[in-house]
Amino acid sequence: MSRRLPPPPPEENRLEFPLEEGLTAKDVAILTEMRERYIARSEGGIHGPLDRSWLNARELALYDATFGARIGWKWRAVLAEVAQRAVEPPRGTILDWGCGTGVASRAWLERFGAEGQRVVLFDTSQAARRFAAQSLRARWPGLDVVEIESPPHKPVDVLLVSHVISELLDPAFDGLVDFAATSNFVAWVEPGSRDIAKKLVLARERLRDELAVLAPCTHSRMCGLLGAGRADDWCHHHGAPAPEAFTTRLWNQVAKDVGIDLRSLAYAFLVLGRGPVRAGDPRDGRILGRPRVEKGRALLDVCRAEGVATLRFLERTDKPFFRALGDAPMKPRLHRVEAAGDRIESLSEIPTPPAWVPTKRG
Ligand SMILES: C[S@@+](CC[C@H](N)C(=O)[O-])C[C@H]1O[C@@H](n2cnc3c(N)ncnc32)[C@H](O)[C@@H]1O
Repeated sequence: MSRRLPPPPPEENRLEFPLEEGLTAKDVAILTEMRERYIARSEGGIHGPLDRSWLNARELALYDATFGARIGWKWRAVLAEVAQRAVEPPRGTILDWGCGTGVASRAWLERFGAEGQRVVLFDTSQAARRFAAQSLRARWPGLDVVEIESPPHKPVDVLLVSHVISELLDPAFDGLVDFAATSNFVAWVEPGSRDIAKKLVLARERLRDELAVLAPCTHSRMCGLLGAGRADDWCHHHGAPAPEAFTTRLWNQVAKDVGIDLRSLAYAFLVLGRGPVRAGDPRDGRILGRPRVEKGRALLDVCRAEGVATLRFLERTDKPFFRALGDAPMKPRLHRVEAAGDRIESLSEIPTPPAWVPTKRG
């Protein structure tokens, strides 16, 4: 006996976007328009609300499978670093502020598990909140997920913020930073573009009295980029795209038809928590941005507690390391730096510090 199958959901309401399914010309047009709205804004330093919000689930699904997935690769790099640096974030209520399709909260739960967690989704777009809630529930059916439509006031255990700075006017940005100061833990990831990364430095300066700075920095002092002579630099990092970026039809189309350079995954981020300030070794530092590789040497912008300095790394110091400087790093560029003046004598691994655990607000 044949059974009549229910009709498939209308195209606009589909949640999933299979990677092997090709993009239609309409999809390419939607993604191209999105690229203008988000990427051009964040790279062009424009801030403020968009003139229109998300339209439907198809648009959200397209975003989630493409731009959102790229953001997910950045979150994976950041959260791997959180774990590598022996930071143990609190569990409990996680707020995904400006959640969009829920990329950040999904990456968080994938890394730290869903047990004992509750996710609060805040976004001015109801369509986005609904999409994020559906995708979280599809992945973790028993998860407690709450949607809120106005900015929260109650402090949370974990605040996640992802790619929202370009959509906020200064008062909204200030309000978000004030809210972050009440949270027990903050993980904030943004595009690695100059103006946005500079805003994150401002957030760091305002939060570091209240919360311990855990990453990307190796110290809790004033950001070295606020020091003299570094106004043209910005704190950003390069991650490695996921392997599927180079193996699937979807990503091939995204690269060719939407014009996204998949090799470049620049991001800026900030991780802070309520708890002990880590006393790092003053030799410990992080290489910012892209090393400038020349014949026989590279110039590295190295951030340490003493500030940011451009140091010379000679090829003969470590040839394999030198050769890898041109590639996207598979691990954060964190090193114990031995230098004589502006010449690096050696770069070694920073020993894993004792676990950082949060202290609860009294
Ligand atoms: C570029 S999307 C990023 C979405 C998601 N966080 C991600 O990383 O994929 C920015 C999101 O912020 C939301 N948004 C913009 N202004 C907002 C505000 N003032 N309060 C809350 N959400 C806002 C938008 O609706 C949009 O979903």
